[in-house]
Amino acid sequence: LDSRHFEKPTISPATENMHNQPFVIGVAGGAASGKTTVCDMIIQQLHDQRVVLVNQDSFYHKLTEEELARVHEYNFDHPDAFDTEKLLESMDNLRHGRAVDIPKYDFKSYKHNVFPARRVNPSDVIILEGILIFHDPRVQQLMNMKIFVDTDADVRLARRIRRDTVEKGRDIGAVLDQYSKFVKPAFDDFILPTKKYADIIIPRGGDNHVAIDLIVQHIRTKLGQHDLCKIYPNLYAIQSTFQI
Ligand code: CTP
Repeated sequence: LDSRHFEKPTISPATENMHNQPFVIGVAGGAASGKTTVCDMIIQQLHDQRVVLVNQDSFYHKLTEEELARVHEYNFDHPDAFDTEKLLESMDNLRHGRAVDIPKYDFKSYKHNVFPARRVNPSDVIILEGILIFHDPRVQQLMNMKIFVDTDADVRLARRIRRDTVEKGRDIGAVLDQYSKFVKPAFDDFILPTKKYADIIIPRGGDNHVAIDLIVQHIRTKLGQHDLCKIYPNLYAIQSTFQI
């Protein structure tokens, strides 16, 4: 040990983040790739922790009357379709211990105000889920762990057809048109390029139980360190100073 090891430890923003802020997990991937299943499985396995799910879908911009009238020409898969400033504002509140009201989005009516907003309380773990959740670097920077759900395009399309016709009551022709006009190009241009930011890529989505188990184990380890940091706020600073 030389004298520099005894200098007052400086706390880096990353270390600072571990003291009292939630552990944020980002889950991205193409539409109908199984992101929701992956999130549900993580939440189920972390039942003894306070976990909240925040969906990027809740931050779709409100459509104008004109856009609503020509909704088949609206690109819901483009980064501009989302109100990222609002998402950042909600995340800022949650990370600083303030509850937020997150709107519920109705895919049938394309509106937010159909259901009452969901009150989300600050938690130990926040899961941020959405097709383009890695797109904005400011949102990406909030994440302690980034997961990309990688599911074959044919499986995604088959699920989408089933979901949009059965659950959303849409016409199959319109679903296929939307897929070729907007969904597929946006996946290639905006979603797939964000895969490189992921820490973990899960093949086959929610069917991959081994991957989910490994992820949950890792989150538990990190949460343990997180808790230690809350009890001993200088632990990480000391640890890095002594290079242990
Ligand atoms: N979308 C739509 N109509 C709207 C709003 C969004 O069809 N009014 C579509 C977009 O075209 C986009 C998809 O919803 O492709 C995004 O949701 P998706 O990721 O499929 O939903 P999740 O259930 O969150 O994801 P997963 O299926 O992976 O669980």
